[in-house]
Amino acid sequence: MSSMERICVVVCGVLLLMSTASVGWEQKHDYKLALSKSLLFFEGQRSGKLPPNQRLTWRKDSALRDGQEGGVDLTGGYYDAGDNVKYSFPMAFTATMLAWSIIEFGDGMAEGGEWINAAETLRWNTDFLLKATANLPNTVYAMVGNPNSDHNCWERPEDMDTPRPVYAVNTTHPGSEVAGEIAAALAAASIAFKNYDAAYSWRLLSKAKEAYYFANKYQGSYNDAIGHAVCPFYCDFSGYQDELAWAGAWLNKATNTKKYQKHVDAAIRKIKFMEEVTQNYYIDTEFSWDNKHAGLYVLLSQIGQYKKEAQTFACGVLPESPTRTIKYTPGGLLFKTEGCNSQVVGSLSLLALIYAKHVRLARERITCGNTKFPAWKLVEFAKNQADYILGTNPMGMSYMVGFGPKFPQRIHHRAASLPSINAHPSFIACGNGFSYLDNPNPNLNELTGAIVGGPNTGTDHFDDDRRQAAQTEPTTYVNAPFVGVFAYFINHKK
Ligand SMILES: *[C@@H]1O[C@H](CO)[C@@H](O)[C@H](O)[C@H]1NC(C)=O
Repeated sequence: MSSMERICVVVCGVLLLMSTASVGWEQKHDYKLALSKSLLFFEGQRSGKLPPNQRLTWRKDSALRDGQEGGVDLTGGYYDAGDNVKYSFPMAFTATMLAWSIIEFGDGMAEGGEWINAAETLRWNTDFLLKATANLPNTVYAMVGNPNSDHNCWERPEDMDTPRPVYAVNTTHPGSEVAGEIAAALAAASIAFKNYDAAYSWRLLSKAKEAYYFANKYQGSYNDAIGHAVCPFYCDFSGYQDELAWAGAWLNKATNTKKYQKHVDAAIRKIKFMEEVTQNYYIDTEFSWDNKHAGLYVLLSQIGQYKKEAQTFACGVLPESPTRTIKYTPGGLLFKTEGCNSQVVGSLSLLALIYAKHVRLARERITCGNTKFPAWKLVEFAKNQADYILGTNPMGMSYMVGFGPKFPQRIHHRAASLPSINAHPSFIACGNGFSYLDNPNPNLNELTGAIVGGPNTGTDHFDDDRRQAAQTEPTTYVNAPFVGVFAYFINHKK
């Protein structure tokens, strides 16, 4: 060994010690508080008639006639982001993530005194999904509102006077991604509710089966049926085979059978075939409202299936993995996209924790190339991501509204930026709201717990600017997986 190598061994050894020490497992942040706030956020996104126990009291009833244009009741549910449109596809994914969080890490929620709040957050969502599927076997409602007229206004949901058209898929104009994701959400929620509300759980499961039958029998993308409405905002970019496989896997889990296995395998064969044809091997680390691949394989690996694919996900994210595909900012935040990057941060962190739990139970290690990693490396990865979001980052700020001493004040969100009905009861018309969008003052209402899109991924810099939606807009599917992540760190160190 040359002296140079010896120095390296010594230096690297010291660095390794230092990095273990600096990563540490101390509770860097109050995860219980983060969980509590992450759930409160959903109350600010509520559409429809608000219940007496509504805690974010600056929000009021809104969109009480949703569905009327289609002759149905589609009140309730969540506005997806900073606007006032309701989209069933991302809303269903939000429900699936809340349900999975409860299923895997409900014990942390119970310890934090938040289990019921989490379940009721999920119920507000699944109540809407039940309405969206009330006219099965023929129809699934995919969207309420007109995104163009909505986006041309800066208006409180309570004042909303834009058209509220209803968009549906049916047997001649199918939408397997939206129906499939609803089936996955209802099946997952039926597991989450099983011991808490057995009758509701049963209703969810029977509707999940109906939605799956519809999605699978009448195959097609809603891009073709109602693309003029759902695109470009929630266009299905990744096809619908992932939702068919994912929903089948959730139904197997919820029914504790293998009844859907041949559908799951058939859909995955098609996914793999398309990957070969297009040479687009996008499965590894994709997991979002559109793309279910990594989640699908992690879910299946829990019952010993598709283990190689699940491991590919883990190796794709682990910072020290020789086969890593994910990128990190200089400050350590994983990044995939410039807009709403925090969605991927949350969804991949939740997946990492779920997969780590399984790997540990199975007493396995994660093999990436010729390096093996223990399960806690994935936990460390998720903790670093959660801590970054909560304030351990170059800006020294939390990306969750109302958490810590410094957080975004000007989020891109109509209801939060305009005065509350409490302060300003009279109507503010569509175009009159724009002075609130454009002014440099902090928002008038705190949308507590909202996690925003996050910093610039090249520089870790964050502009607290309401007009930069990619950085300052919150969404329900960003918060949903973080619910599980924060719950995990309440009662786990490693
Ligand atoms: C099926 O859905 C399409 C797209 O939403 C719609 O144009 C058509 O009228 C529907 N058909 C029936 C029979 O409801």
